[in-house]
Amino acid sequence: MLKRFSISLEENLLEIFDKHIRARSYTNRSEAIRDLIRKAFVKKEWQADKLVMGVISLVYDHHQPNLQDKLTEVQHDYHHHIISSTHVHMDHDNCLEVIIVRGKAKEIQELSDRMIALRGIRDGHLAMSSTGKSLH
Ligand code: NI
Repeated sequence: MLKRFSISLEENLLEIFDKHIRARSYTNRSEAIRDLIRKAFVKKEWQADKLVMGVISLVYDHHQPNLQDKLTEVQHDYHHHIISSTHVHMDHDNCLEVIIVRGKAKEIQELSDRMIALRGIRDGHLAMSSTGKSLH
């Protein structure tokens, strides 16, 4: 069931918000607000250490000594968390590895930090998502 409420905003903040809405092609302000609220709570859920899905992406030079062995070692330490991984040979030197993970937010963060911290990782990101079930 939908409930209505009104929001007071400074004019310039509303302008920024409306620009955001147009850029993201939201059909109306309500939909955009709902999305922002959900995102804020999903974020909180990670902090509360609930179950999340994550995608870790790494870019590295495969010539870096021992790096591939270390990456494999870390992933085996967390084998229960890893759902799948894909390796792409980007060019002559660089590799992209994308690892899909599931687990407690804290553990997923640890796993990601351990890999990204390895010498030779040029770029590393973790994106986490939660179903945010109770919010729908
Ligand atoms: Ni490669």
